[in-house]
Amino acid sequence: MDLTKAEIIALLADEANEQNLFKKADEIRRKNVGDEVHLRGLIEFSNICRNNCLYCGIRKDNKHACRYRMEPEEVIRTARNAADMGFKTIVMQSGEDMYYNQERMCHIISEIKKFDVAVTLSIGERSYADYKAFREAGADRYLMRIETTDKELYHRLDPQMSWQHRYECLLMIKELGYELGSGIMVGLPGQTLESIANDLLFLQELEIDMAGIGPFIPHPDTPLSKEKGETLELALRTMAVMRIMLPDINIPATTAMESLHPDGRMAALRAGANVVMPNVTEGEYRRLYELYPGKAGADEIPAHSRSMLAQKILSLGRTIGTDYGSHIRK
Ligand code: 5AD
Repeated sequence: MDLTKAEIIALLADEANEQNLFKKADEIRRKNVGDEVHLRGLIEFSNICRNNCLYCGIRKDNKHACRYRMEPEEVIRTARNAADMGFKTIVMQSGEDMYYNQERMCHIISEIKKFDVAVTLSIGERSYADYKAFREAGADRYLMRIETTDKELYHRLDPQMSWQHRYECLLMIKELGYELGSGIMVGLPGQTLESIANDLLFLQELEIDMAGIGPFIPHPDTPLSKEKGETLELALRTMAVMRIMLPDINIPATTAMESLHPDGRMAALRAGANVVMPNVTEGEYRRLYELYPGKAGADEIPAHSRSMLAQKILSLGRTIGTDYGSHIRK
C-alpha cells in the first residue's frame, strides 16, 4: 500500500496508537505471507573489516575487538551442521574482509549449495565481477543495508565510504538476479522521523525482497559510545509501517531488537515480521562478532537456541517454514 511521506511520519510519531499499527501490520503479514516463520541460520565467519563505520563494534580502528576469521572449511562445516538442524537458508555474514577473495567465496558457496539450502551473502561492497561470480557459484540472495538514505548522515557515520557507491552495489546485485535484502538502522544520532520516512520510501522504490530494521545500540568502544540509543518501540513502528507499504516482502525480527528486550523478536513477529535469523556460529566466535553490546544469544548453543526459538514461535500460533522461504511477489 502506498503511503505519503506525511502519513508515514504521522504513524512513526504516534506512540499512543502503536498497538493499532502493530495489529494492522500483523493482519497484512498474515494475509500476504501467511503464518509461516522462516528461520535462516546465520554464520558470522569473520569480524575483520576494512571499514570504519562510527557506530559499529567491528570497525577497523576498534583496537579492543578481538579479531577472528574462520577458515573456509570451518564455514562449510558450520553450514552443514545448520542444514542438519533443519535450516533451509544459510546466511554468511562478515566484515569486509578481503581474505575471502572471489575464489575462496565461490568455493564456500558451491560447497554449501550441496546441502540443499538457499545461500544468502552479507559481506558488503564488492566488485561487479565478484557479485557475478558469487551468483554463478550458486548464491541466491544478498543482504546489504543502506543504513540511512540521508547522505549527509551516511557520510558522517561511514567515513571513506560513498552512499552512491553502496546504492550502485544494490542495483548490481538486483540486476544479477539475486533476491535483494536491505534495511536501515533507526535512532542514529541526528536521524529524524522524516529521514526514516525517506528510507522507507527508498526501500519501496527499490522493490526489495526483504528488509531488516535495527535499532541503533551504542557500542562502548566506538566514537558513538556516548550517544543515546534507540528504543525498541520506534524500531517496531518503523518495521510495522514497512509491512504496510511492502505487504509481501520478507521481514526479519532482528537480533538488535532482541538485544533491547528479551522478547523483542517475538514482539516483532506480532507486528509484521515473518523471518528470524538465529546465529549458528559455534564456540568462541559467537561472542566476538560484537557489532553492538549485549547482542542477544551470544552465549547460547545453536541447536538449543533453535529449539527454544521454535517453541516460542509455535506458542504464538505460528508455524516454522519448511521450504526456502523465498520472496513471492503478489
Ligand atoms: N547498533 C545496531 N546495529 C548495528 N549495526 C552495526 N552496528 C550497529 C549498532 N551499533 C548493523 C548495521 C549493519 C548490520 C550488520 O548491523 O545496520 O548493516
